[in-house]
Order: sequence, then structure tokens, then C-alpha cells
Amino acid sequence: MAATIPSKLCLPAYSRLPLLRACRGRCFSGTGAVGAARLVQVEEPPPYTPARLAGRQYLSGSHSPGFPEFLGSVRPGFPAVFQPAHATGPLEEWASVVKGVIDRELTGAGALLFRGLPIRTDQDFGQFCKRLGYDMMVYKGGAVDRSELTDMVYTAADEPLEMTIDLHTEMSYLPQWPKKLMFCCIKPPGEQYGGETPVTDMRSVLRDMDPVLLDRLRKRGIRYIRNIADRSRDVWCWQRTFRTEDREEVEKFLTERDFSFQWNSDDSVTYWYVMPATRDHPDTGETLWFNQATSHHCSYFYQHPNFGGAEQAKFRYPFHTCYGDGEEFRQEEVTHMQQIQWRHAVGFHWQAGDVLVVDNMVTGHGRMGCTPGVSGRKVVVSLTSN
Ligand SMILES: [Fe+2]
Repeated sequence: MAATIPSKLCLPAYSRLPLLRACRGRCFSGTGAVGAARLVQVEEPPPYTPARLAGRQYLSGSHSPGFPEFLGSVRPGFPAVFQPAHATGPLEEWASVVKGVIDRELTGAGALLFRGLPIRTDQDFGQFCKRLGYDMMVYKGGAVDRSELTDMVYTAADEPLEMTIDLHTEMSYLPQWPKKLMFCCIKPPGEQYGGETPVTDMRSVLRDMDPVLLDRLRKRGIRYIRNIADRSRDVWCWQRTFRTEDREEVEKFLTERDFSFQWNSDDSVTYWYVMPATRDHPDTGETLWFNQATSHHCSYFYQHPNFGGAEQAKFRYPFHTCYGDGEEFRQEEVTHMQQIQWRHAVGFHWQAGDVLVVDNMVTGHGRMGCTPGVSGRKVVVSLTSN
């Protein structure tokens, strides 16, 4: 991979067209069988009409005083945006160039957005991910319902579309988590309908967290409690969560991770365990906010359309969090964490073929609610373990 800086500075305004004749930013090149593939970093942030956050329906914590009013726009370099420097050729030409950018830039930037690649279908994206050559990770034991569309390509979330999914780092409530997430927009929702995938900077989140709360969390950890129904009672069931019909396989998964569990009389399973609130990045050594204290707290469901807004006994919700020693979080502690996470979040309008790659420890993600029935939004995801 070679980086070249052209002498002539003539970057056009940020455009939906995948054609850039020259760039003033950095360029990343690779040579394929057909010809040279070159990506340029786009310096101008994509235009964005910020989504309202404060007071938003189906967004947990949005009615708390001090909640950020709007979702931020892309900042310089977060996410860093790349686009082909010339009309695109076959997809295989691009994988090695994209991989070069990911390997070099991802951990520093936290998130990378690639636009204008010739990806149109789930299968295109699956092939593209395979050519990137990372170890793909099966989504097993995760908290949300997620369908596998094609080999290792999943729906980003099967949550009701109107729900805004709280910002989180993927599977940070488990002992193993994906290192990278690769989202792809197969069909954009339309700018007026919402459906952005916001990303948030976990370095800044940690820096701004209340130090007393942070100290408590780091000393006591976070207890995660999950209640998962049997298939006979809910489609969001342990059979789909663990991708098995076999109770023994579920018990093996839980036992291997030292989780406490019990089967209940209605054939649901409840399990609980404690995890840290922060983790050190394996490549940089930096400490990062890495947990799902807010998105797994029972109050998430107070704004969930499937739960009708009613507050039920905590054990009836699919998941719940508290301090590691069992003491409940105060609601203001939960809203503080939510507010800090949203304060550092940015959004952009999806375009067809966009690929968003995030370092799952450096960058959190969520989903803005969007209008069901009319948006046609389709965003898929693949997870990697390296
Ligand atoms: Fe997620």
C-alpha cells in the first residue's frame, strides 16, 4: 500500500457521486488484477440534519434534564470517511485497499466510513468481508435478536424500528467480544425517516464520566442479569440467543464462562454474572469505557414499544444491570451515563453501499429509531474476532 499526496488541490464538494478526480487528503492505493484501486480520505464531513435526542420517543433517558438536544454531526476524522478516487471496478479490487486502511487507521480513528464501493446485496457484502480476511465471529449469546441473512452476515438488529437503541459496545457484557464491527447499508432509510447508526467516542466518554461513579463502578464491577424465555412464550427466546435447541449446550456456554444460572418453571432461563466497567485495549493499552450498564438496565424497557412503557418488576425484563455486589444503580446514575455517551455521539445519513467499520472497544454504536413501514431501511453487520 502506498500513500501519495497529489500536488493539485481540487477536491470537489462532498458528493453522492463515487467519482473523485483528485484529492487533497491522503490516498491509499492497491493494485488488483484489473488495475489500480485508490481510496481518498474525504475531509469535508457529510451533510447531516441532526436528529433530535432530548424528549425523543422510544429513547431511554431522553426525558431526563440535561439530555443532549441533538445528535452531533461527523467531526473531522470521526468517523474518517474514504471514497474511491475513480469509478469503481470489481469489488475484489477494493478489499485489499480497504483492509490496508482498516489495519492502519482504525484503532486511532475509532471508526471508518467507506462510501461508493460496489456493494449492492447481502451476498456482495459477505463476499467483501471474506476477502478482507479477518476471522469472522458467530453472534452467539448476544442480547438482541439478530437474523443471519447469508454466511456470517446478520441483520444489525431485529428490535422494533421505532426504538432508538442505546449506545453500546458490542457484547462488552461477555468475556469475549468482537474486535471489529462492519456495518453495511444495503438500503438507506431515507433521510427524513431516521435510522442512522450513531457512533460515540469511548475515549471521551471515559474522560467525562463522573469520577465518583466511575470509581464505584471500577471497584465493584457491573452485574448483568438476563431472563430469556422459552420459544413457546416468546420469539426472543434462548433457542435463538444460543443458536441451539439443546439445554445442555446452553448450560455448557454458561458454565464455561462461570455464569450462575437457573431454569425456571416456565422453561425460561435466568443467569447472572459480574463484568468490569472498563477494559484496556489490547493494542494500545489505553483504558476504555467498555460495558453495557445503560443498555441492559431495566429502564431501557420503559421506552420500549414491545413493553408498552409500563414498568414491570425488574426480573420480568429480558435484562437488568446493577453494581457487582447487587446494589441497584440510582436512576440518575443511569441517566448520567446515557447522557455522556450521547454527548460524544455523531451521526450521518446512510447511503446505499456504505460500509462503516468500528473498533468495538474505542467506539460505541447505536441506532436511531426510524419510521416503520415506509423507510425500507436495511443495514447488515458482520463481526470479527481480530
Ligand atoms: Fe450493537
